[in-house]
Amino acid sequence: MTYQAPTVQAPSLAPALDRVWRLPGVYRPQADTALLAAALSREVVPGSDVLDVGTGSGALALYASRLGGHVEAVDISWRALAVTRVNALRGGHSIEVHRRDIRRPGRRAGGRTYDVVVSNPPYVPAGRAAAAHRAERAWNAGPDGRQVVEALCTASARLLRPGGVLLMVHSALCGPQATVDQLAALGLSARVGARTRVPLGPVLRSRLPWLRARGLLAAADDEEELVVIRAERR
Ligand SMILES: C[S@@+](CC[C@H](N)C(=O)[O-])C[C@H]1O[C@@H](n2cnc3c(N)ncnc32)[C@H](O)[C@@H]1O
Repeated sequence: MTYQAPTVQAPSLAPALDRVWRLPGVYRPQADTALLAAALSREVVPGSDVLDVGTGSGALALYASRLGGHVEAVDISWRALAVTRVNALRGGHSIEVHRRDIRRPGRRAGGRTYDVVVSNPPYVPAGRAAAAHRAERAWNAGPDGRQVVEALCTASARLLRPGGVLLMVHSALCGPQATVDQLAALGLSARVGARTRVPLGPVLRSRLPWLRARGLLAAADDEEELVVIRAERR
C-alpha cells in the first residue's frame, strides 16, 4: 500500500526559501515547496545533477544548489525564469535556466539525464471557469488536477538516469495512487514518500462548492493532504 508513508508535521519554510525575491504572478514558496525541500535534502549530494521542473521563483533550484547539486531549472513562464535568474545571481548560485513546457517532450535538450528530478507542478483541480488568468498556470491543472502531473511522470522515465530519483509533490485530491501506478507502469519504483496535512488555502476555498460537487472534498473537510511521490529509475 502506497499510503503507509508516515504523516509528517508540515515543515516550515526554511528562511532562505521564504526570502526569495518574486514578481507578481510568480508562485510564492509555501507548504508544498517546504515539503519537497525536506525530501530534496535526503536525495541531493554534492555533484548530483538536478532538474527542477516548474521552478517558479527558483526556490527549490536554489535549495538544491545549496546542497551541492548542479542544477537546471525550467518553467513555462518567462516571468518565473527571469525571477529565478535574479535569485540565482543574488545568491551567487550557478543555475542553468531554460524555458520548457514539460508537456512537450520534443523541446528537451537532447538526451540529457539527471540524478534527481524535482517538481512542484500545478495540481489543483480546476473547472473551465478557473483557467482564465496566466498566473493561475502555477496551480490550475484541469478537471482532475493531473494535466501536468501525468506529463511529468512520462517525462521522468526519460529524464532520470538509472538510480535517479523523481520527487514530486501534489495534493491527495488529484490521486496519488494514480501517480504511483503510472510511474510503476513506466518501469519506475514508486511510492508515497511523505505526506502532511495543511489547512485549505485560498485557491481551494474559492472553489469549495465545485470540489464538493465533484466529490473531491467532503463537507467537513477543512484540510488538504499533500504527498511527496518518490520514484526511482531502476
Ligand atoms: C506550484 S508552482 C511551483 C513553483 C516552485 N517550484 C515552488 O515550489 O515554489 C508551479 C510552476 O510550474 C510552472 N508550470 C506550469 N505548467 C508548466 C509546464 N507545462 N511546464 C513547465 N512548467 C510549468 C508554473 O509556471 C509555476 O511556476
